Amino acid sequence: MDHSQAPVLEALRDYHRAGYVPFNAPGHKQGRGIDPRVLEVVGAEVFKSDVIALNGLDDRLMRGGVLARAQDLMADAVGAEHTFFSTCGSSLSVKSAMLAVAGPHEKLLVPRHVHKSVISGLIVSGVQPVWVRPHWDTAQGLTHPPGVREFAEAYEREPGVKGALLVTPTDYGTCGDIRAVADWCHEQGIPLIVDEAWGAHLPFHDGLPPWGMDAGADVCVTSVHKMGAAVEQSSVFHLQGDRVDPNVLKAREDLLGTTSPSSLVYAGLDGWRRQMAEQGKQLLDGALRLVTSVRGRLGEQGLTVLHDEFLGPDLADSIDPLKVALDLEPLGISGYQAADWLREHQRVTVGLSDHAGSWPSSTIRMTKRRRARSSTPSAPC
Ligand SMILES: Cc1ncc(COP(=O)(O)O)c(C=O)c1O
Repeated sequence: MDHSQAPVLEALRDYHRAGYVPFNAPGHKQGRGIDPRVLEVVGAEVFKSDVIALNGLDDRLMRGGVLARAQDLMADAVGAEHTFFSTCGSSLSVKSAMLAVAGPHEKLLVPRHVHKSVISGLIVSGVQPVWVRPHWDTAQGLTHPPGVREFAEAYEREPGVKGALLVTPTDYGTCGDIRAVADWCHEQGIPLIVDEAWGAHLPFHDGLPPWGMDAGADVCVTSVHKMGAAVEQSSVFHLQGDRVDPNVLKAREDLLGTTSPSSLVYAGLDGWRRQMAEQGKQLLDGALRLVTSVRGRLGEQGLTVLHDEFLGPDLADSIDPLKVALDLEPLGISGYQAADWLREHQRVTVGLSDHAGSWPSSTIRMTKRRRARSSTPSAPC
């Protein structure tokens, strides 16, 4: 496919050129009705490109296939059979995937360390979780994705499940063995959903951990606004194989999703796909070189940069090197304290901080004595 094309961006450019007089939503009419004080802060261009999909970006019957072509290009770029864009974040994509696999009162294998979107998916759908024990890292006080043994234990306890869900990478960048879990699921005749919200970049570089589709998952959910580059809520989910019907998956997304998708999200996703298809390897080469140097320099400053500590048979299978995790235990401060100090005094914001450590784009740790006293939960949301 021709990855220099960007159907959504091209449609948006044509819309701007045509100079339409819109009587349909959004009510601001490409920014004409926005308070100038808002435009001063946010910029007029944002509103100019906030265009309705039906009878805006495409015609009344979507005959231009704008979105369909953009999704096909994304599928081709990452090697999936079907790709769907969601403008409601992976919180919606993961629920769509769950509902495509199991219905009310049916069972799904779910690790205990899932994101709140999975828990809310269980609540609204009535799908029954069969809890799977994640790999508990007692040394670091956090969890890594479970392996086949934990899934098999749960399955033995409660057979008759409709599918399994695996979260990898975690917010700490630690990854599970997707291939082994997918193979095990398929031996049981069930599909595997991978919540890869933190792994949108993984398909674009061989030096990164394997991603869901390459490792045999059936459905894979990614947040492009996290480790890719797109506005908040930009989520993409992918499908391959015949264990999950693409029409059912699309119908579940349709059931839960908004009827007013954001063209800003679609445009960002379309442009990011083009950028990654054309330059992803080179951009990630640069990011990997930079992160290696950052890790080395932090180490030279006497800070503990975690890596091998996360790896092992009952820990993580691999690590996304682009997440830099600092152990602050030797400094005797918590990640929260470090994050607050960095924000206030250095105008630096970190990706994640916890009771024990800080992760730039990414975590901060504290002494065992302090950790034992802490009543703050370590799992980030
Ligand atoms: C593992 C995981 N899954 C799903 C989500 C939900 O993603 P979004 O914020 O795109 O709705 C998150 C958000 O942080 C997450 O960490």
